[in-house]
Amino acid sequence: MSQLSPIKSQKLDIALKGQIKIPGDKSISHRSLIFAALANGKTKITGLLEGEDVLRTAAALESMGVEIIRNQDYWLVNGSGIVGLVEPNNIIDMGNSGTSARLLSGLVTPYDFTSFFTGDSSLRKRPMARIFEPIKQFGAEIVANKSNKMPFAIIGTSESTPIEYKMKNASAQVKSCILLAALATRGVTTIFEPNKCRDHSEIMMRYLDIDIKQKNEGAGTIISCAGYNDFMAKDIDVVSDISSAAFLIVAAILIKDSDVTLPKIGVNPLRTGIIETLIEMGANIDLKNKRKICGEEVADIRVCYSKLKSIEVPSSRASSMIDEYPILAIAAANAVGTTKMTGLSELRVKESDRLSMTANNLRACGVEVVEGDDFLEIKGQTQNHKKMAKIYTDLDHRMAMSFFVMGLTMEKGVEIDDSSMIKTSFPNFVDIFEKQNLVNYTTYSGIVNLK
Ligand code: S3P
Repeated sequence: MSQLSPIKSQKLDIALKGQIKIPGDKSISHRSLIFAALANGKTKITGLLEGEDVLRTAAALESMGVEIIRNQDYWLVNGSGIVGLVEPNNIIDMGNSGTSARLLSGLVTPYDFTSFFTGDSSLRKRPMARIFEPIKQFGAEIVANKSNKMPFAIIGTSESTPIEYKMKNASAQVKSCILLAALATRGVTTIFEPNKCRDHSEIMMRYLDIDIKQKNEGAGTIISCAGYNDFMAKDIDVVSDISSAAFLIVAAILIKDSDVTLPKIGVNPLRTGIIETLIEMGANIDLKNKRKICGEEVADIRVCYSKLKSIEVPSSRASSMIDEYPILAIAAANAVGTTKMTGLSELRVKESDRLSMTANNLRACGVEVVEGDDFLEIKGQTQNHKKMAKIYTDLDHRMAMSFFVMGLTMEKGVEIDDSSMIKTSFPNFVDIFEKQNLVNYTTYSGIVNLK
């Protein structure tokens, strides 16, 4: 058992001000390392998220023979080409990272070697059947227990055959798993996604001149990729993560007189559901200086203290803000009226069961909540200001950060059981609050232990 690192946050009336730099996008960081590993030549990656999840991907690629060097201001990846990986020299331990697990499983599918995967106790509970099905269709074999979870082994095949696959979940991890397997498979692989989900892999593939085609089909997309074509390395600049920015956006909305600008945030339209939702709730958010970086849409986001009202968040928006529901729940808990969010079944299979965890932790804060199979109803401004709430995180970084922000809105604050997982996606999250002089370290005994 690893050591828990508790942390407290308490009501603060000091505004957040100025520019705050948010670390690199987690999804794009994983993909930049993986595509750089498959390119011909060297890729310089700037802005890479140096969170533990991404470092797991880097270590796994190194174990497959890819040379990766961390320099002062950038990372350098010496690509092995689309079929140049070697058999991993150890079990691949993906820690807490579902993205690493699912993407790298696709990567090793078209190779004549066997890879063993495992993860931490959170990742070992998460469903993997969703990737096993397409991987087997490509011709690889899977060895797993009956629950179709980690640990598992993939016996790859260099004779993989292209597939036609209709997605069952709106999951970019599954889609990217298939695209990575397709890259080293001769022939054209086709994916039909009935509902669009984040398309960072497709954008990066187009940026790298890989043969990928996309066309809209109803609410979804048909994607086809012609495999076994080499591509050249091209430098990648990773934009800042809107999912990490969301914690600062909600904090700035809730802390009186705040006025913050977050530069270079990725605003891919398949990720901006949280912005749309907060604006509908009355938030003062402005997207400035819109531009593109390596094919990704980017803006500087200005956000000011605002009074929020409740809304109904439609299920059609779920995939564009799937990681943001815990922090949206904190916004809803501070809004006037009852906010309802629907279409949330996928939240049950994230780093924790985020639907139950969010509901239970809100209740611990005194908030009135209804938890349904796939919805949450949150009655705003019902939190308890009389006693400190005890928050449980179950190895979920977003639960810890969301309730850290919640604590800033409560007279007696919150005590969070463990902050150690924050490093998986946002290593300097607590430091930002310190630099803003929002947190006095001497009164927050838990924080001083945070690495
Ligand atoms: C991710 C996709 C999403 C998201 C995760 C990152 C990705 O998961 O929740 O944090 O980088 O592809 P699903 O693919 O399971 O929806």
